[in-house]
Amino acid sequence: MNIDKLTKETILQKLNDKASFFDVNIFDTVTSTNTLAKEEAINGAREGYVVLATSQTQGRGRIGRKFFSPSDTGIYLSVVLKPDEECENMIFITTLAAVSVCEAIESVSQKKTDIKWVNDIFIDGKKVCGILSEAKLKNNNKPEFVILGIGINVYKPEDDFPDDIAKTAGYIFEQEEKDVKNNLCAKILERILFYYNNLKEKAFLDEYKKRSIATGKNITVIKSNKKYSAYCMGLDDDLRLRVRYENGNEDYISSGEISIRLN
Ligand code: BTN
Repeated sequence: MNIDKLTKETILQKLNDKASFFDVNIFDTVTSTNTLAKEEAINGAREGYVVLATSQTQGRGRIGRKFFSPSDTGIYLSVVLKPDEECENMIFITTLAAVSVCEAIESVSQKKTDIKWVNDIFIDGKKVCGILSEAKLKNNNKPEFVILGIGINVYKPEDDFPDDIAKTAGYIFEQEEKDVKNNLCAKILERILFYYNNLKEKAFLDEYKKRSIATGKNITVIKSNKKYSAYCMGLDDDLRLRVRYENGNEDYISSGEISIRLN
């Protein structure tokens, strides 16, 4: 990666007047940018502290999964936020990030993005991004901080994706392009800040629903290792999935330990 290298100066320059909210820190290989950001937050890092790395040895995903994080072909980004919100509202933090990533990808690539509930981003049916947010809670049910972690496959990994994700994982660009990663990072951070500053309005909700890939499709709901066939009717304003099971029963499902598969 010669023409597409992450640099703090370029990201800050592209962030323009939004740059002062962020404290951008770029590392080479780390275990996990979320772990590093969490350590820094515990040690008093301010809101807006950003960890970016060229690769991760222990990238983490939702529900205890690993996140494949090879060198140079992806973006591994974590940002420390300190929202004055009840922890029930944390879903909106991850959701605003999903919409921010979609808008950033669309603006640099002109490709259409879809969101698979809760926070996987797809292009042409392949997952190109996953989001993991982790919170440390105070006693009053509000977070002391939230680590918002975003992993994006920008290019095809040098040795391709491992077998377990080879069929499902995708990437945005075939060829290396100048400053794509810097542009993506700056745009993602800018959109996150916009939606975060206007959290109460939830302006990202419509954008999220518009891109929901499951709506109107038959899906499999996976809960405690059990699978249920259902039809996805859409999402409500709390981002619960409205489903109709095969026996005709309708239900609203919240994220937590539940995941879905598109049939
Ligand atoms: C998922 O697909 O389940 C979520 C993946 C989240 C991966 C990102 S990469 C940056 C940050 N650091 C991590 O260890 N995980 C998140």
